[in-house]
Amino acid sequence: MTVKRDKVTTKTFLQLKAEGEKLALLTAYDWLTARLLDDCGIDGILVGDSANMVFYGQPTTLSITMDQMIYHTRAVAKAATRALVIGDMPFMSYQVDTQEALRNAGRFLKEGGAQAVKLEGGKEIVPTVRRLVEVGIPVMGHIGLLPQSVHRFGGYGVRGKGKEEADYLWESASLLEDAGCFSLVLEKIPTDLAKRMSRELRIPTIGIGAGPFCDGQILVVQDMLGLFEEFKPKFVRRYVELATQVREAFHHYIEDVKKGNFPSSRESY
Ligand code: KIV
Repeated sequence: MTVKRDKVTTKTFLQLKAEGEKLALLTAYDWLTARLLDDCGIDGILVGDSANMVFYGQPTTLSITMDQMIYHTRAVAKAATRALVIGDMPFMSYQVDTQEALRNAGRFLKEGGAQAVKLEGGKEIVPTVRRLVEVGIPVMGHIGLLPQSVHRFGGYGVRGKGKEEADYLWESASLLEDAGCFSLVLEKIPTDLAKRMSRELRIPTIGIGAGPFCDGQILVVQDMLGLFEEFKPKFVRRYVELATQVREAFHHYIEDVKKGNFPSSRESY
């Protein structure tokens, strides 16, 4: 079914939260996937740095570059006529200083065609977020499990289980909202903490492994399509097992070619 609505903006995100309508987001890294998502009425498309893992086959998100991210963002933005396109700022593109963060975030909008950027981090990145928002760059925050900090935490475990970390996350959420974030990704945190944040923040929370009470949800598209098979976090729901179907199609094609069954006369000139 094709769902057509007005162009989604950061204002729409706030409006949908106020109206109690959940926001549905997925990632995409290419034109074709983005076009299908846009046709289906997805609210937001994140050009995630997860591309480094699911597109480039790297073990973490860390090594993807600004140029790679801009390349993927441009392809997605070309297709997404309705969905809000958010470019994910890669590791070390915004941490060194605010000037560099401004320049790199600006590239997502000017060269990539995105309408917003996403930054991982808590209260320590608030001055950067404030500056980006001041110059007109909408920012989506991202707290909880931070894949760019995988080496600091020694893995991809649930965050915010203890009181100290829950307090830090809560303070970060509130400061990021005050700094001007238009929404906040909550990754792999306890359901109760995400529920409280969703209730008390004005901006929509977008959960990934943060339970059902968030204002919206996001998944990596290759995970929900069953294409990425390296590992499957508990929070992923596979809506289809595409890897299995694709393998079947590839086997079938190879067999047809080997046996001379493809192409047929109808497929020839
Ligand atoms: O890079 C990514 O895909 C993300 C998630 C929130 C899905 O940051």
